[in-house]
Amino acid sequence: MLEVTEGAVLVTRRDAVAWITLNRPDALNAINIEIQARLPAAIREADADPAIRVLVIQGAGPRSFCAGADIKEFTAVDEPLARRQSRMRDHWIDALDQCQKPLIAAIHGFCLGGGLEIALACDIRVAAGDAQFAFPETGLGIIPAAGGTQRVVRMLGWAQALDLILTGRRFGAEEAKVLGLVTRVVAPDALQPAAEELALALAGKPPLALQFAKEAIRKGGELDYAAGRRLETDLLTHLLNTSDRLEAAQAFREKRPPRFSGR
Ligand code: HXC
Repeated sequence: MLEVTEGAVLVTRRDAVAWITLNRPDALNAINIEIQARLPAAIREADADPAIRVLVIQGAGPRSFCAGADIKEFTAVDEPLARRQSRMRDHWIDALDQCQKPLIAAIHGFCLGGGLEIALACDIRVAAGDAQFAFPETGLGIIPAAGGTQRVVRMLGWAQALDLILTGRRFGAEEAKVLGLVTRVVAPDALQPAAEELALALAGKPPLALQFAKEAIRKGGELDYAAGRRLETDLLTHLLNTSDRLEAAQAFREKRPPRFSGR
């Protein structure tokens, strides 16, 4: 994985963790065309790099994780062309869905619209106490269509999804935790260390087990119960003879920490 030190999406590596930073602080990290191109590329590259075990997405600057799509780029579009393109191309958010490694969102400040959709596409969301969330899309004459409507209804059910998306109301980190949109809230200056601690804890675990747990939950959650159980059993069966499963048991018997190889 190449480190990227300039542009709208920065990528750095510390230990086995790829830190992906939305880097347009003057625009509160709003998602412009450059971010739409670079974010999926950064995710795919980190996902393909065997030296990386966990990815963290964060926002640059003190005020914002991401304030949503860049509204200054909103213009009239050629509708038939847009329809064809949407059928032919992956949406940029699909790279997050397709990522096999654990994806953590470290959220501070504004987390609005498309920014909230990026966060929701991650596996674990850690929020600073100053984080503010909303789906402002309907007020702009659009809907959250980077998976927003579909993810929120699955996470929170119809009632909350309709309330949040129809009203676009702003809410804070504690309410986001009560709702279940984030699972951890920390003090603002503890966000980076908390995200790093979580990332390193996951990086120390058997990678295939994490990958298959993601698949069982994310794909299995879309299936009926019996098909989901089948998928879960198939995935477990693939894990039974992995070196890491055998190493975990051996380390337990020898009363020593395990050393996982990812195989
Ligand atoms: C472009 C943005 C932006 C955005 C902020 N900025 N949000 N530029 N698109 N979404 C820019 C401002 O224009 C300004 O730059 C600078 O960032 C600081 O913002 P201010 O508005 O001056 O700050 P403040 O008064 O504190 O207000 C912060 C804010 C407000 C409440 C977050 O900026 C705001 O409402 N932004 C829009 C949020 C939004 O509606 N997002 C949803 C977009 S729709 P300049 O140079 O002008 O001073 C969406 C659809 C997703 O996300 C679809 C998939 C991608």
